[in-house]
Amino acid sequence: MADAGDLKQAAGRAALDHVEDGMRLGIGTGSTAEAFIHALAGKVEAGLKVVGVATSQRTEALCRELGIPMQTLETVPQLDLTIDGADEIDPELRLIKGGGGALLREKIVAAASAKMLVIADETKLVETLGAFPLPIEINGFGMIATYLAIQKAAQDLGLECDLTLRRLGEEPFITDSGHLILDAAFGRIPDPESLSRALHDVPGVVEHGLFLGLAGEVIVATQSGLRSMT
Ligand code: 5RP
Repeated sequence: MADAGDLKQAAGRAALDHVEDGMRLGIGTGSTAEAFIHALAGKVEAGLKVVGVATSQRTEALCRELGIPMQTLETVPQLDLTIDGADEIDPELRLIKGGGGALLREKIVAAASAKMLVIADETKLVETLGAFPLPIEINGFGMIATYLAIQKAAQDLGLECDLTLRRLGEEPFITDSGHLILDAAFGRIPDPESLSRALHDVPGVVEHGLFLGLAGEVIVATQSGLRSMT
């Protein structure tokens, strides 16, 4: 039986079939994205010409180390394809992302791409989003007020949530863009669109990890092989 690591590797390798010579690629963050990055580096070494835009400093460093040519969204603002992992995927290809803390840049890069391809192992598939705590990137200024406003916004939608400030050891986790993350454990998010709008209405919320209408295709690696969801 393949373990989650094997399945991530399989999904990462399968994504290569979607990469064409000359593409401008958004490159995701996390262990599944890293499986793709390693596979991509092999192709680049063999002569494939692509330019990558990273969704995090961690991804940028790995791509450069492996010899993948990198640019930024400032120099390459429109991308052909973004390949990234996810924390949860529902049957409508709605996602929760941000487990690795890169949700803001991941969303900006995905939105700048003609297509977002998600790669995942089958444990990421859910019927209803929300078992994975939703990462919410917030400004440090007025953090408590933002915390309370998020709780109120959730309550107004009939949702209960436990909000936890993400930490790295003893210190608050700081994103690549200098913000904080609140992880919101809802249990179930029956109406992700309403929650998305409500969170965006809270001053202090920079972005949240609900990716709605962004994923064009998901490659899922399962025990019985690869599956594509569109
Ligand atoms: C990072 C992400 C990742 O794509 C998500 O956390 C999945 O990670 P992994 O591939 O390691 O399971 O959103 O912010």
